[in-house]
Amino acid sequence: MGVPFFDIRYNLGPGEREALLRRWAAILDHGRFINGPEVAELEDHLCRFLGVEHALACSNGSDALVLALKAVGVEAGDEVIVPSFTFFATAGAVARLGAVPVFADIDPVSYCLDPESAAAKAGRRTKAVIPVHLYGQPAEVGAIRRAVEQAAGHEVVIVEDAAQAVGAVSPEGPCGGLGAVAGFSCFPTKNLGACGDAGFVTTRDPALAERMRRLREHGGGTQYHHDEVGFNFRQDSLQAAALLERLDHLLEYNAARREAAEHYGRLLSDHGLDDRVTAPTVTPGHVFHQYVLRVPRREELRAALQEAGIGSAIYYPVPLHRQPCFAALGYAEGDLAESERAAREVLALPIHPGVDAEMRVAVVGAMASFYSPSRPSCLR
Ligand SMILES: Cc1ncc(COP(=O)(O)O)c(C=O)c1O
Repeated sequence: MGVPFFDIRYNLGPGEREALLRRWAAILDHGRFINGPEVAELEDHLCRFLGVEHALACSNGSDALVLALKAVGVEAGDEVIVPSFTFFATAGAVARLGAVPVFADIDPVSYCLDPESAAAKAGRRTKAVIPVHLYGQPAEVGAIRRAVEQAAGHEVVIVEDAAQAVGAVSPEGPCGGLGAVAGFSCFPTKNLGACGDAGFVTTRDPALAERMRRLREHGGGTQYHHDEVGFNFRQDSLQAAALLERLDHLLEYNAARREAAEHYGRLLSDHGLDDRVTAPTVTPGHVFHQYVLRVPRREELRAALQEAGIGSAIYYPVPLHRQPCFAALGYAEGDLAESERAAREVLALPIHPGVDAEMRVAVVGAMASFYSPSRPSCLR
């Protein structure tokens, strides 16, 4: 049985498709493609869904991080501590403002920023830290803040990169409300995926929300009057309508992802694979944007899965401190050992809500055949 890594159609079932077309038809009728009523409605729904006071829809998750960093006062020359093992945009957002990404290592179990490594990178110029809730697993934001502030000797601003973590909840509270401000992505493959590029920011601070509202639209308070130079980071009404439709199903989708992760864990141990591969821990607040294992002989396994029609992906093959565009920052191989090891070992299996139990059985069966070709793969 073939199992594609991702199939966008899972969230376009007949009911949803019709509802979405009705919402889009309403937009064609009212014609407010920019700043239409759907945007404010989405922001209101996001606040209630996430339990935060302010949400602002914006163009995508990368711009959401730039907006957040700019709003908290990150300027050229400031240092911002980020994990090296994350999607490029985490550090790219810092660099886009002329600030300096300072790379720290990850915890080998959660794959999120390691508080001790972050503290070791803190200094006089540290302005902010970006914990990333990688794969949908909440980072230890409180511990990171305490460790970095103690090492830096001053307060730092926490900007959450919650791009992969919509609906995730840590023991400290919902992701998106753990720092000063958070950036989320609604890239189509994300847990809350749009039909194109989209994202949003959240904050509990009304002054920050107000500043981001202005910055999102060229820094203007009233039309054609600009207090500062901002951006065009608006979200269009068609995307907001798509997200409104998806948001209604998100609890269900996130629960399905968690259930799939538990099932994968059981299948791996039924096949005796749990001493060969390292499966992620299924914590209650994890939303499993990705289901990521550490595996031996990764490239061969990927090829065998592909042969069996099973998709997989590597998030991420090159840690950011080893990216050519950051070479001038002077990092070398071996500087961040856990990030480098994760980049060599991780493999993501298909996890979106369209991957049913039978498909998961096929995925793990194919893995079992690869690692123990002589054993029959009939376990359920
Ligand atoms: C951790 C992380 N940060 C930021 C982003 C950027 O989001 P977008 O692709 O919507 O710009 C992504 C998206 O892949 C991400 O995974």
